Amino acid sequence: MSDKFEEKTNKNKSSDGNRLALWGGRFSSGPSPELAALSKSTQFDWRLADDDIAGSRTHARALARAGLLTDDELNRMESALDELQKRVDAKEFIPSEEDEDEATALERGLLDIAGAELGGKLRAGRSRNDQIACLIRMWLRRHSRVVAGMLAQLCFELIGQAERAGKTVMPGRTHMQHAQPVLLAHQLMAHVWPLIRDIQRLADWDKRADASPYGSGALAGNTLGLDPLAVAKDLGFTRVTENSVDGTSSRDTVAEYAFVAAMIGVDISRLSEEIIIWNTQEFAFVTLHDSYSTGSSIMPQKKNPDIAELARGKSGRIIGDLTGLLATLKGLPTAYARDLQEDKEAVFDQTDTLEVLLPAFTGMIATMTFNKDRLEAEAPTGFALATDIAEWLVKNGIPFRNAHELSGACVKIAESRQKELWDLSDEDFAKIFSEFMSAEKSAEVRTVLSAQGSANSRCGKGGTAYERVAEQIEEAQAALEEAGSFIRSASDGSAYKAPGSIE
Ligand code: ARG
Repeated sequence: MSDKFEEKTNKNKSSDGNRLALWGGRFSSGPSPELAALSKSTQFDWRLADDDIAGSRTHARALARAGLLTDDELNRMESALDELQKRVDAKEFIPSEEDEDEATALERGLLDIAGAELGGKLRAGRSRNDQIACLIRMWLRRHSRVVAGMLAQLCFELIGQAERAGKTVMPGRTHMQHAQPVLLAHQLMAHVWPLIRDIQRLADWDKRADASPYGSGALAGNTLGLDPLAVAKDLGFTRVTENSVDGTSSRDTVAEYAFVAAMIGVDISRLSEEIIIWNTQEFAFVTLHDSYSTGSSIMPQKKNPDIAELARGKSGRIIGDLTGLLATLKGLPTAYARDLQEDKEAVFDQTDTLEVLLPAFTGMIATMTFNKDRLEAEAPTGFALATDIAEWLVKNGIPFRNAHELSGACVKIAESRQKELWDLSDEDFAKIFSEFMSAEKSAEVRTVLSAQGSANSRCGKGGTAYERVAEQIEEAQAALEEAGSFIRSASDGSAYKAPGSIE
Protein backbone atom coordinates (compact mmCIF):
# COMPACT_ATOMS: atom_id res chain seq x y z
CA MET A 1 0.00 0.00 0.00
CA SER A 2 1.53 3.32 -0.93
CA ASP A 3 2.15 5.90 1.76
CA LYS A 4 0.35 8.53 -0.22
CA PHE A 5 -2.95 6.70 0.21
CA GLU A 6 -2.26 5.72 3.80
CA GLU A 7 -1.67 9.34 4.63
CA LYS A 8 -4.94 10.41 3.04
CA THR A 9 -6.86 7.73 4.90
CA ASN A 10 -5.30 8.78 8.17
CA LYS A 11 -6.36 12.34 7.59
CA ASN A 12 -9.92 11.13 7.59
CA LYS A 13 -9.54 9.78 11.09
CA SER A 14 -10.91 11.74 13.99
CA SER A 15 -8.85 13.19 16.81
CA ASP A 16 -9.09 9.92 18.73
CA GLY A 17 -7.28 8.37 15.78
CA ASN A 18 -9.78 5.54 15.26
CA ARG A 19 -12.58 6.95 13.22
CA LEU A 20 -12.73 6.46 9.51
CA ALA A 21 -15.03 9.13 8.14
CA LEU A 22 -16.08 9.02 4.51
CA TRP A 23 -15.99 12.75 4.24
CA GLY A 24 -12.92 14.13 6.06
CA GLY A 25 -11.25 16.21 3.34
CA ARG A 26 -12.65 19.65 3.97
CA PHE A 27 -12.84 19.31 7.76
CA SER A 28 -10.13 20.35 10.13
CA SER A 29 -11.41 18.16 12.95
CA GLY A 30 -13.38 14.96 13.31
CA PRO A 31 -16.97 14.93 14.55
CA SER A 32 -17.68 15.71 18.19
CA PRO A 33 -18.54 12.66 20.29
CA GLU A 34 -22.10 13.96 20.67
CA LEU A 35 -22.57 14.22 16.92
CA ALA A 36 -21.00 10.81 16.42
CA ALA A 37 -23.40 9.29 18.94
CA LEU A 38 -26.41 10.89 17.28
CA SER A 39 -25.30 10.10 13.77
CA LYS A 40 -24.50 6.43 14.29
CA SER A 41 -26.87 3.95 12.70
CA THR A 42 -24.88 0.70 12.70
CA GLN A 43 -26.96 -0.59 15.61
CA PHE A 44 -29.84 -0.98 13.16
CA ASP A 45 -28.43 -0.80 9.63
CA TRP A 46 -25.75 -3.49 9.99
CA ARG A 47 -28.33 -5.99 8.83
CA LEU A 48 -27.90 -4.45 5.37
CA ALA A 49 -24.25 -5.55 5.25
CA ASP A 50 -24.82 -8.55 2.95
CA ASP A 51 -26.81 -6.44 0.52
CA ASP A 52 -24.16 -3.73 0.67
CA ILE A 53 -21.41 -6.20 -0.23
CA ALA A 54 -23.54 -7.61 -3.08
CA GLY A 55 -23.91 -4.01 -4.30
CA SER A 56 -20.17 -3.44 -4.03
CA ARG A 57 -19.43 -6.56 -6.06
CA THR A 58 -21.60 -5.47 -8.96
CA HIS A 59 -20.43 -1.86 -8.67
CA ALA A 60 -16.84 -3.06 -9.01
CA ARG A 61 -17.75 -4.84 -12.24
CA ALA A 62 -19.48 -1.68 -13.49
CA LEU A 63 -16.32 0.31 -12.76
CA ALA A 64 -14.23 -2.27 -14.63
CA ARG A 65 -16.56 -2.18 -17.64
CA ALA A 66 -16.23 1.60 -17.66
CA GLY A 67 -12.45 1.22 -17.73
CA LEU A 68 -11.98 2.51 -14.19
CA LEU A 69 -10.61 -0.75 -12.78
CA THR A 70 -8.16 -3.00 -14.63
CA ASP A 71 -8.90 -6.72 -14.87
CA ASP A 72 -6.33 -7.34 -12.22
CA GLU A 73 -7.80 -4.70 -9.95
CA LEU A 74 -11.25 -6.16 -10.42
CA ASN A 75 -9.97 -9.60 -9.52
CA ARG A 76 -8.30 -8.33 -6.41
CA MET A 77 -11.36 -6.26 -5.50
CA GLU A 78 -13.62 -9.29 -5.84
CA SER A 79 -11.33 -11.42 -3.70
CA ALA A 80 -11.22 -8.67 -1.10
CA LEU A 81 -15.02 -8.49 -1.08
CA ASP A 82 -15.20 -12.29 -0.76
CA GLU A 83 -12.89 -12.08 2.21
CA LEU A 84 -14.92 -9.23 3.69
CA GLN A 85 -18.12 -11.26 3.31
CA LYS A 86 -16.42 -14.20 5.01
CA ARG A 87 -15.37 -12.04 7.93
CA VAL A 88 -18.85 -10.55 8.20
CA ASP A 89 -20.45 -14.00 8.11
CA ALA A 90 -18.10 -15.24 10.81
CA LYS A 91 -18.74 -12.06 12.81
CA GLU A 92 -14.99 -11.51 12.76
CA PHE A 93 -15.70 -8.16 11.24
CA ILE A 94 -18.35 -6.05 12.95
CA PRO A 95 -18.96 -2.30 13.08
CA SER A 96 -16.77 -0.48 15.55
CA GLU A 97 -17.99 2.19 17.95
CA GLU A 98 -16.57 4.76 15.56
CA ASP A 99 -18.30 3.67 12.36
CA GLU A 100 -21.09 6.02 11.36
CA ASP A 101 -23.15 3.54 9.37
CA GLU A 102 -22.93 0.13 7.74
CA ALA A 103 -21.35 1.65 4.62
CA THR A 104 -18.62 3.34 6.66
CA ALA A 105 -17.91 0.12 8.51
CA LEU A 106 -17.70 -1.95 5.34
CA GLU A 107 -15.42 0.58 3.67
CA ARG A 108 -13.12 0.32 6.69
CA GLY A 109 -13.22 -3.46 6.37
CA LEU A 110 -12.46 -3.33 2.67
CA LEU A 111 -9.56 -0.89 3.08
CA ASP A 112 -8.17 -3.21 5.68
CA ILE A 113 -8.21 -6.17 3.29
CA ALA A 114 -7.55 -4.54 -0.08
CA GLY A 115 -5.37 -1.67 1.05
CA ALA A 116 -6.19 1.99 0.69
CA GLU A 117 -5.18 2.34 -2.96
CA LEU A 118 -7.39 -0.38 -4.40
CA GLY A 119 -10.08 -0.20 -1.69
CA GLY A 120 -10.36 3.52 -2.15
CA LYS A 121 -11.37 3.10 -5.80
CA LEU A 122 -14.66 1.40 -5.09
CA ARG A 123 -16.42 4.51 -3.95
CA ALA A 124 -16.15 6.20 -7.35
CA GLY A 125 -19.48 6.91 -9.01
CA ARG A 126 -21.69 5.97 -6.10
CA SER A 127 -22.88 7.68 -2.98
CA ARG A 128 -24.28 6.37 0.24
CA ASN A 129 -27.46 8.11 -0.91
CA ASP A 130 -28.08 5.85 -3.89
CA GLN A 131 -26.61 2.88 -2.05
CA ILE A 132 -28.86 3.09 0.97
CA ALA A 133 -31.95 3.73 -1.17
CA CYS A 134 -31.10 0.57 -3.09
CA LEU A 135 -30.22 -1.57 -0.06
CA ILE A 136 -33.48 -0.93 1.75
CA ARG A 137 -35.38 -2.01 -1.35
CA MET A 138 -33.32 -5.19 -1.60
CA TRP A 139 -33.93 -6.03 2.05
CA LEU A 140 -37.65 -5.29 1.89
CA ARG A 141 -38.15 -7.21 -1.35
CA ARG A 142 -36.61 -10.28 0.23
CA HIS A 143 -38.60 -9.99 3.43
CA SER A 144 -41.84 -9.19 1.64
CA ARG A 145 -41.66 -12.75 0.33
CA VAL A 146 -41.00 -14.17 3.78
CA VAL A 147 -43.97 -12.29 5.24
CA ALA A 148 -46.18 -13.25 2.30
CA GLY A 149 -45.20 -16.90 2.75
CA MET A 150 -46.13 -16.75 6.43
CA LEU A 151 -49.45 -15.14 5.57
CA ALA A 152 -50.17 -17.88 3.02
CA GLN A 153 -49.47 -20.48 5.72
CA LEU A 154 -51.92 -18.73 8.01
CA CYS A 155 -54.53 -18.68 5.24
CA PHE A 156 -54.08 -22.41 4.65
CA GLU A 157 -54.65 -23.11 8.36
CA LEU A 158 -57.75 -20.93 8.44
CA ILE A 159 -59.05 -22.70 5.35
CA GLY A 160 -58.33 -26.03 7.06
CA GLN A 161 -60.47 -24.90 10.00
CA ALA A 162 -63.19 -23.77 7.59
CA GLU A 163 -63.18 -27.18 5.93
CA ARG A 164 -63.36 -28.97 9.27
CA ALA A 165 -66.22 -26.68 10.33
CA GLY A 166 -68.36 -28.22 7.57
CA LYS A 167 -71.95 -27.12 7.88
CA THR A 168 -71.71 -25.85 11.48
CA VAL A 169 -73.75 -22.69 11.93
CA MET A 170 -73.01 -19.93 14.40
CA PRO A 171 -74.50 -16.60 15.39
CA GLY A 172 -73.57 -13.97 12.84
CA ARG A 173 -73.41 -10.58 14.53
CA THR A 174 -73.59 -6.94 13.52
CA HIS A 175 -73.01 -4.32 16.22
CA MET A 176 -72.00 -7.40 18.26
CA GLN A 177 -75.72 -8.33 18.43
CA HIS A 178 -77.16 -11.56 17.05
CA ALA A 179 -78.10 -10.73 13.49
CA GLN A 180 -78.40 -13.76 11.17
CA PRO A 181 -76.93 -17.24 11.39
CA VAL A 182 -73.83 -17.86 9.29
CA LEU A 183 -71.67 -20.87 8.70
CA LEU A 184 -68.61 -20.95 10.95
CA ALA A 185 -66.68 -21.62 7.74
CA HIS A 186 -68.09 -18.42 6.23
CA GLN A 187 -67.01 -16.38 9.24
CA LEU A 188 -63.50 -17.89 9.10
CA MET A 189 -63.24 -17.26 5.37
CA ALA A 190 -64.17 -13.62 6.05
CA HIS A 191 -60.74 -13.39 7.69
CA VAL A 192 -58.96 -15.27 4.90
CA TRP A 193 -59.86 -12.82 2.13
CA PRO A 194 -58.25 -9.71 3.67
CA LEU A 195 -55.11 -11.76 4.31
CA ILE A 196 -55.07 -12.92 0.69
CA ARG A 197 -55.40 -9.29 -0.37
CA ASP A 198 -52.44 -8.44 1.89
CA ILE A 199 -50.36 -11.04 0.07
CA GLN A 200 -51.52 -9.61 -3.24
CA ARG A 201 -50.65 -6.13 -1.99
CA LEU A 202 -47.10 -7.26 -1.27
CA ALA A 203 -46.81 -8.82 -4.73
CA ASP A 204 -48.16 -5.65 -6.30
CA TRP A 205 -45.90 -3.42 -4.17
CA ASP A 206 -42.97 -5.46 -5.41
CA LYS A 207 -43.59 -4.31 -8.97
CA ARG A 208 -42.98 -0.72 -7.87
CA ALA A 209 -40.06 -1.64 -5.60
CA ASP A 210 -38.46 -3.44 -8.54
CA ALA A 211 -36.31 -0.49 -9.67
CA SER A 212 -32.72 0.06 -8.58
CA PRO A 213 -31.56 3.53 -7.52
CA TYR A 214 -27.89 2.46 -7.87
CA GLY A 215 -26.17 4.86 -10.27
CA SER A 216 -28.18 7.87 -9.08
CA GLY A 217 -25.14 9.01 -7.12
CA ALA A 218 -25.77 11.62 -4.46
CA LEU A 219 -28.68 13.05 -6.42
CA ALA A 220 -27.84 13.96 -10.01
CA GLY A 221 -26.50 10.75 -11.53
CA ASN A 222 -22.90 9.82 -12.27
CA THR A 223 -20.33 11.09 -14.74
CA LEU A 224 -18.33 7.92 -15.04
CA GLY A 225 -20.22 6.06 -17.74
CA LEU A 226 -21.35 3.27 -15.38
CA ASP A 227 -24.14 0.96 -16.47
CA PRO A 228 -26.88 1.13 -13.84
CA LEU A 229 -29.05 -1.47 -15.62
CA ALA A 230 -26.34 -4.12 -15.38
CA VAL A 231 -25.97 -3.30 -11.68
CA ALA A 232 -29.75 -3.45 -11.24
CA LYS A 233 -29.97 -6.88 -12.90
CA ASP A 234 -27.21 -8.26 -10.72
CA LEU A 235 -29.11 -7.12 -7.64
CA GLY A 236 -32.37 -8.75 -8.67
CA PHE A 237 -34.07 -5.71 -10.18
CA THR A 238 -35.49 -5.56 -13.67
CA ARG A 239 -35.36 -1.76 -13.91
CA VAL A 240 -33.44 1.32 -12.85
CA THR A 241 -35.22 4.28 -11.24
CA GLU A 242 -36.12 6.78 -13.93
CA ASN A 243 -34.93 9.88 -12.09
CA SER A 244 -31.84 10.10 -9.89
CA VAL A 245 -33.30 12.73 -7.54
CA ASP A 246 -36.41 10.62 -7.09
CA GLY A 247 -34.34 7.45 -6.79
CA THR A 248 -32.30 8.78 -3.89
CA SER A 249 -34.91 10.80 -2.03
CA SER A 250 -38.36 9.28 -2.38
CA ARG A 251 -39.38 6.75 0.21
CA ASP A 252 -42.95 6.11 -0.92
CA THR A 253 -41.83 2.58 -1.73
CA VAL A 254 -40.78 2.10 1.88
CA ALA A 255 -43.94 3.80 3.13
CA GLU A 256 -46.13 1.62 0.92
CA TYR A 257 -44.51 -1.48 2.35
CA ALA A 258 -45.08 0.01 5.82
CA PHE A 259 -48.76 0.46 4.99
CA VAL A 260 -49.14 -3.14 3.88
CA ALA A 261 -47.37 -4.27 7.06
CA ALA A 262 -49.73 -2.10 9.11
CA MET A 263 -52.72 -3.49 7.25
CA ILE A 264 -51.54 -7.02 8.00
CA GLY A 265 -51.29 -6.00 11.67
CA VAL A 266 -54.83 -4.68 11.57
CA ASP A 267 -56.20 -7.77 9.85
CA ILE A 268 -54.52 -10.08 12.35
CA SER A 269 -55.76 -7.89 15.17
CA ARG A 270 -59.38 -8.14 14.00
CA LEU A 271 -59.13 -11.91 13.98
CA SER A 272 -57.43 -11.79 17.39
CA GLU A 273 -60.27 -9.82 18.88
CA GLU A 274 -62.71 -12.41 17.59
CA ILE A 275 -60.72 -15.25 19.14
CA ILE A 276 -60.35 -13.45 22.46
CA ILE A 277 -64.12 -13.01 22.66
CA TRP A 278 -64.89 -16.54 21.48
CA ASN A 279 -62.50 -17.85 24.10
CA THR A 280 -64.33 -16.20 27.04
CA GLN A 281 -66.34 -18.32 29.44
CA GLU A 282 -69.53 -16.55 28.35
CA PHE A 283 -69.04 -17.33 24.66
CA ALA A 284 -67.12 -20.60 24.98
CA PHE A 285 -67.05 -21.00 21.20
CA VAL A 286 -63.41 -21.97 20.94
CA THR A 287 -60.77 -23.81 22.96
CA LEU A 288 -57.15 -22.90 22.47
CA HIS A 289 -54.48 -25.56 22.59
CA ASP A 290 -52.45 -25.59 25.81
CA SER A 291 -49.21 -25.07 23.93
CA TYR A 292 -50.58 -21.87 22.42
CA SER A 293 -52.02 -20.46 25.66
CA THR A 294 -50.46 -19.10 28.82
CA GLY A 295 -51.24 -19.37 32.52
CA SER A 296 -51.29 -16.89 35.37
CA SER A 297 -48.62 -16.60 38.02
CA ILE A 298 -51.24 -16.20 40.73
CA MET A 299 -54.51 -17.69 39.50
CA PRO A 300 -54.01 -21.41 38.90
CA GLN A 301 -57.16 -21.84 36.86
CA LYS A 302 -56.26 -19.25 34.22
CA LYS A 303 -55.63 -20.10 30.59
CA ASN A 304 -55.08 -16.95 28.61
CA PRO A 305 -55.17 -16.16 24.88
CA ASP A 306 -51.85 -14.29 25.00
CA ILE A 307 -50.94 -14.85 21.36
CA ALA A 308 -54.11 -13.14 20.21
CA GLU A 309 -53.59 -10.36 22.73
CA LEU A 310 -49.98 -9.83 21.67
CA ALA A 311 -51.09 -9.76 18.05
CA ARG A 312 -53.70 -7.14 18.90
CA GLY A 313 -51.17 -5.16 20.92
CA LYS A 314 -48.34 -5.39 18.43
CA SER A 315 -50.58 -4.20 15.62
CA GLY A 316 -50.72 -0.85 17.45
CA ARG A 317 -47.00 -0.54 17.29
CA ILE A 318 -46.86 -1.63 13.64
CA ILE A 319 -49.32 1.16 12.84
CA GLY A 320 -47.10 3.54 14.83
CA ASP A 321 -44.14 2.61 12.63
CA LEU A 322 -46.15 3.62 9.56
CA THR A 323 -47.38 6.93 10.97
CA GLY A 324 -43.91 7.80 12.27
CA LEU A 325 -42.41 7.19 8.86
CA LEU A 326 -45.06 9.23 7.06
CA ALA A 327 -44.48 12.11 9.48
CA THR A 328 -40.74 11.93 8.79
CA LEU A 329 -41.33 12.14 5.05
CA LYS A 330 -43.95 14.81 4.87
CA GLY A 331 -41.93 18.02 5.08
CA LEU A 332 -38.70 17.09 3.34
CA PRO A 333 -37.18 19.23 0.60
CA THR A 334 -36.53 17.04 -2.42
CA ALA A 335 -33.20 15.24 -2.80
CA TYR A 336 -31.51 13.40 0.03
CA ALA A 337 -31.69 14.72 3.58
CA ARG A 338 -30.43 12.88 6.60
CA ASP A 339 -33.97 12.53 7.95
CA LEU A 340 -34.26 9.66 5.48
CA GLN A 341 -32.04 7.54 7.70
CA GLU A 342 -35.16 7.20 9.87
CA ASP A 343 -36.96 5.09 7.27
CA LYS A 344 -35.25 1.86 8.20
CA GLU A 345 -36.05 1.24 11.85
CA ALA A 346 -39.76 1.57 11.12
CA VAL A 347 -39.87 -1.17 8.52
CA PHE A 348 -37.30 -3.36 10.28
CA ASP A 349 -39.44 -3.24 13.41
CA GLN A 350 -42.60 -4.03 11.46
CA THR A 351 -40.94 -6.91 9.66
CA ASP A 352 -39.30 -8.35 12.78
CA THR A 353 -42.60 -8.08 14.61
CA LEU A 354 -44.57 -9.82 11.86
CA GLU A 355 -41.97 -12.51 11.37
CA VAL A 356 -42.09 -13.50 15.04
CA LEU A 357 -45.84 -12.99 15.40
CA LEU A 358 -47.17 -14.83 12.35
CA PRO A 359 -45.75 -18.30 13.11
CA ALA A 360 -47.12 -18.21 16.67
CA PHE A 361 -50.45 -16.89 15.48
CA THR A 362 -50.69 -19.53 12.77
CA GLY A 363 -49.94 -22.24 15.33
CA MET A 364 -52.74 -20.98 17.54
CA ILE A 365 -55.17 -20.99 14.60
CA ALA A 366 -54.14 -24.45 13.44
CA THR A 367 -54.63 -26.04 16.86
CA MET A 368 -57.75 -24.32 18.20
CA THR A 369 -60.92 -26.38 18.39
CA PHE A 370 -64.47 -25.16 18.07
CA ASN A 371 -67.32 -26.07 20.38
CA LYS A 372 -69.66 -26.90 17.51
CA ASP A 373 -72.64 -27.86 19.69
CA ARG A 374 -72.58 -24.52 21.39
CA LEU A 375 -72.20 -22.60 18.14
CA GLU A 376 -75.13 -24.51 16.64
CA ALA A 377 -77.29 -23.95 19.71
CA GLU A 378 -76.58 -20.23 19.83
CA ALA A 379 -76.93 -19.66 16.07
CA PRO A 380 -80.70 -19.11 15.87
CA THR A 381 -81.14 -17.42 19.26
CA GLY A 382 -81.68 -13.74 19.87
CA PHE A 383 -84.39 -13.72 17.18
CA ALA A 384 -81.72 -14.22 14.52
CA LEU A 385 -84.34 -15.73 12.20
CA ALA A 386 -86.53 -12.61 12.10
CA THR A 387 -85.19 -11.64 8.66
CA ASP A 388 -86.00 -15.14 7.43
CA ILE A 389 -89.62 -14.67 8.50
CA ALA A 390 -89.77 -11.32 6.71
CA GLU A 391 -88.24 -12.75 3.54
CA TRP A 392 -90.57 -15.79 3.66
CA LEU A 393 -93.48 -13.34 3.76
CA VAL A 394 -92.00 -11.45 0.80
CA LYS A 395 -91.78 -14.70 -1.14
CA ASN A 396 -95.49 -15.05 -0.41
CA GLY A 397 -96.26 -11.76 -2.09
CA ILE A 398 -96.24 -9.41 0.88
CA PRO A 399 -94.45 -6.05 0.47
CA PHE A 400 -91.21 -5.98 2.48
CA ARG A 401 -92.39 -2.94 4.42
CA ASN A 402 -95.32 -4.96 5.82
CA ALA A 403 -93.26 -8.13 6.12
CA HIS A 404 -90.74 -6.27 8.30
CA GLU A 405 -93.58 -5.07 10.56
CA LEU A 406 -95.13 -8.55 10.82
CA SER A 407 -91.84 -10.22 11.64
CA GLY A 408 -91.18 -7.47 14.19
CA ALA A 409 -94.55 -8.27 15.78
CA CYS A 410 -93.47 -11.94 16.10
CA VAL A 411 -90.26 -10.81 17.86
CA LYS A 412 -92.23 -8.57 20.18
CA ILE A 413 -94.53 -11.36 21.32
CA ALA A 414 -91.69 -13.87 21.71
CA GLU A 415 -89.63 -11.36 23.65
CA SER A 416 -92.50 -10.52 26.00
CA ARG A 417 -92.83 -14.24 26.78
CA GLN A 418 -89.04 -14.61 27.04
CA LYS A 419 -89.20 -17.24 24.31
CA GLU A 420 -87.64 -17.65 20.89
CA LEU A 421 -89.43 -17.26 17.55
CA TRP A 422 -89.93 -21.00 17.03
CA ASP A 423 -91.73 -21.18 20.38
CA LEU A 424 -94.67 -19.21 18.94
CA SER A 425 -97.69 -21.41 18.19
CA ASP A 426 -99.37 -21.83 14.81
CA GLU A 427 -102.21 -19.78 16.25
CA ASP A 428 -99.81 -16.96 17.09
CA PHE A 429 -98.51 -16.85 13.52
CA ALA A 430 -102.03 -17.13 12.09
CA LYS A 431 -103.15 -14.18 14.15
CA ILE A 432 -100.19 -11.98 13.28
CA PHE A 433 -100.33 -12.76 9.53
CA SER A 434 -104.15 -12.90 9.30
CA GLU A 435 -104.49 -9.75 7.22
CA PHE A 436 -102.36 -11.31 4.45
CA MET A 437 -102.83 -15.09 4.45
CA SER A 438 -104.77 -18.09 5.66
CA ALA A 439 -104.02 -19.73 9.00
CA GLU A 440 -102.87 -22.83 7.14
CA LYS A 441 -100.39 -20.92 5.05
CA SER A 442 -99.15 -19.04 8.13
CA ALA A 443 -98.05 -22.27 9.75
CA GLU A 444 -95.63 -22.94 6.86
CA VAL A 445 -93.41 -20.18 8.19
CA ARG A 446 -91.92 -22.85 10.44
CA THR A 447 -89.99 -24.24 7.44
CA VAL A 448 -87.60 -21.29 7.62
CA LEU A 449 -87.26 -21.31 11.40
CA SER A 450 -83.95 -23.16 11.60
CA ALA A 451 -80.47 -21.75 11.53
CA GLN A 452 -79.31 -24.34 8.98
CA GLY A 453 -82.26 -23.53 6.72
CA SER A 454 -81.60 -19.83 7.12
CA ALA A 455 -77.92 -20.15 6.22
CA ASN A 456 -78.63 -22.42 3.29
CA SER A 457 -81.22 -20.10 1.83
CA ARG A 458 -78.56 -17.37 1.42
CA CYS A 459 -77.31 -18.94 -1.73
CA GLY A 460 -76.46 -15.89 -3.84
CA LYS A 461 -72.83 -15.31 -4.82
CA GLY A 462 -70.79 -14.61 -1.68
CA GLY A 463 -73.59 -15.82 0.61
CA THR A 464 -73.28 -18.17 3.56
CA ALA A 465 -75.00 -21.20 1.96
CA TYR A 466 -72.83 -24.30 2.19
CA GLU A 467 -72.27 -24.61 -1.59
CA ARG A 468 -71.29 -20.95 -1.84
CA VAL A 469 -68.79 -21.36 1.01
CA ALA A 470 -67.35 -24.49 -0.60
CA GLU A 471 -66.98 -22.45 -3.78
CA GLN A 472 -65.17 -19.59 -2.08
CA ILE A 473 -62.80 -22.01 -0.39
CA GLU A 474 -61.80 -23.19 -3.85
CA GLU A 475 -61.44 -19.60 -5.02
CA ALA A 476 -59.24 -18.79 -2.03
CA GLN A 477 -57.04 -21.80 -2.72
CA ALA A 478 -56.67 -20.71 -6.33
CA ALA A 479 -55.75 -17.16 -5.25
CA LEU A 480 -53.13 -18.54 -2.87
CA GLU A 481 -51.78 -20.80 -5.59
CA GLU A 482 -51.37 -17.77 -7.81
CA ALA A 483 -49.68 -15.77 -5.04
CA GLY A 484 -47.27 -18.68 -4.66
CA SER A 485 -45.28 -17.59 -7.71
CA PHE A 486 -44.46 -14.32 -5.95
CA ILE A 487 -43.60 -16.04 -2.68
CA ARG A 488 -41.43 -18.68 -4.33
CA SER A 489 -39.63 -16.15 -6.51
CA ALA A 490 -37.38 -15.58 -3.50
CA SER A 491 -35.80 -18.97 -3.76
CA ASP A 492 -36.08 -20.07 -7.37
CA GLY A 493 -34.79 -16.76 -8.68
CA SER A 494 -37.29 -16.61 -11.52
CA ALA A 495 -38.50 -13.14 -10.70
CA TYR A 496 -36.25 -12.01 -7.91
CA LYS A 497 -32.79 -13.17 -7.10
CA ALA A 498 -32.00 -12.52 -3.48
CA PRO A 499 -28.35 -11.60 -3.20
CA GLY A 500 -26.53 -12.39 0.02
CA SER A 501 -27.95 -14.63 2.68
CA ILE A 502 -31.47 -14.38 3.99
CA GLU A 503 -31.41 -12.56 7.27
N1 ARG B 1 -26.86 6.35 6.80
C1 ARG B 1 -27.57 7.17 5.87
C2 ARG B 1 -29.00 6.65 5.69
O1 ARG B 1 -29.30 5.63 6.20
C3 ARG B 1 -26.91 7.16 4.56
C4 ARG B 1 -25.78 8.09 4.58
C5 ARG B 1 -26.02 9.26 3.77
N2 ARG B 1 -25.35 10.30 4.44
C6 ARG B 1 -24.98 11.41 3.87
N3 ARG B 1 -24.33 12.20 4.60
N4 ARG B 1 -25.28 11.71 2.65
O2 ARG B 1 -29.81 7.29 5.07
